[in-house]
Amino acid sequence: MSDHQHLIGLLLGTEEDWPTAFEAIVRRLGTVHDGTGAAHQYDVERITVEPFDLCAKPRYDLVIDRLAYWYYHPREWLKKAALMDDVYLLNSPFTFQSMEKHAAYCAMLRLGLRVPDTVLVPYKNPPEHAKYAYTAEKYNRPFDLAAIAERLGYPLFMKPYDGGAWVGVTMIRNPEELQRAYDASGQRLMHLQKAVAGYDVFARSLSIGAETMVMNFDPDQPMHGRYSVSHGFLDAATGEETVTIGKLVNAFFRWEFNSCETLIRDGVVYPIDYANACPDIALTSLHYYFPWAIKALIRWSVFCTATGRRPRLDLETRRFFDIADRADLSYGEKLQAYRGLANEYFQTEAYSDFCASRLPHLDEVMLDWVRGPDFDRLLVDTVRSTFPPHEHDHFIAHYRGLLEMWKRDEENRLNR
Ligand SMILES: Nc1ncnc2c1ncn2[C@@H]1O[C@H](COP(=O)(O)OP(=O)(O)O)[C@@H](O)[C@H]1O
Ligand SMILES: [Mg+2]
Repeated sequence: MSDHQHLIGLLLGTEEDWPTAFEAIVRRLGTVHDGTGAAHQYDVERITVEPFDLCAKPRYDLVIDRLAYWYYHPREWLKKAALMDDVYLLNSPFTFQSMEKHAAYCAMLRLGLRVPDTVLVPYKNPPEHAKYAYTAEKYNRPFDLAAIAERLGYPLFMKPYDGGAWVGVTMIRNPEELQRAYDASGQRLMHLQKAVAGYDVFARSLSIGAETMVMNFDPDQPMHGRYSVSHGFLDAATGEETVTIGKLVNAFFRWEFNSCETLIRDGVVYPIDYANACPDIALTSLHYYFPWAIKALIRWSVFCTATGRRPRLDLETRRFFDIADRADLSYGEKLQAYRGLANEYFQTEAYSDFCASRLPHLDEVMLDWVRGPDFDRLLVDTVRSTFPPHEHDHFIAHYRGLLEMWKRDEENRLNR
């Protein structure tokens, strides 16, 4: 029987919490046997940034990237590792670079999702380019910003076409605010998007491989209070629809670690932001859901490497468009068809079987670790590095309480 040694690489920015958890659990996981009985051993390493030869062979089988969205040297290393070496990447650097928020809006509008009406307006301040003056003089048409806003209707949002982390996002209620925000946008390309005003629920789904967790989100809270622990906050049909939208986006773009924001009003699900590849999964943001996120990352990493799942750089947009373009299908029927494509892409059935038969001990490993002193130390260290000193005691108690709740729920679920 052959043995396989796998190395998982983590490409990181400033975070210490989830990588420490991920490393601890992978080390406790032990040997994983695949369906043929072959043994798979795992190790994790943090990737360093250094010059690389385009022909050098990376040692990693799979890389989880939380850095390349702003640091372009490692982004280019990811592209090399994908094209030259078949390294399995969470996520594809190609679609993530080219399919920013704007492209993601276009694609999902084409597929029939209820993205609010959105208009892209030209730069307020021109790009610095020697050819600009001549080109603009000849080809730029004057436009009436206020008339566009009037057509969309107030309130609306002005936000960068490729944004993240709420940078440059402004709620606009009248023509004065519109003009002020546009003047301030400078050289950032901006969307105007109709607001889903007075929505009932903000549901944020986090997808890791074939798994999706839908969480109740409140953007008006500070980061530590945005996710609330609530299980039945959507009715079954709306919950399924939200899950399907998340999976569809990810299957379409080949994003395997992504979050999707949807606003729900009167039973209608509006996706507003779903190009968030490699999203924040900090302990201080996810708290109760943190153990799930770490387990899902490990399950998906192990599934991909142990079964030899091939990374897929190619998109199959036509298969999705063929469903989108059918006049005989309702919105619900299209969603169902997309869900089928997503299940195929993510090998949902094979993945569930794999987790049940090959990783049945992972839940216990995680529970034991969260119960122990190492996890508590991580929680305390994370609070200390995230909040000012006078808030440490308060937040240590706060997060301990949330994780106590998770432990109780998990013990009940596992019957322990
Ligand atoms: N169309 C919209 N309707 C209602 N709220 C919106 C809309 N667009 C954005 N928002 C609010 O602004 C926040 C930031 O916008 P978003 O598109 O998510 O940008 P970012 O990519 O920076 O997270 C959202 O989380 C939401 O609270
Ligand atoms: Mg957002």
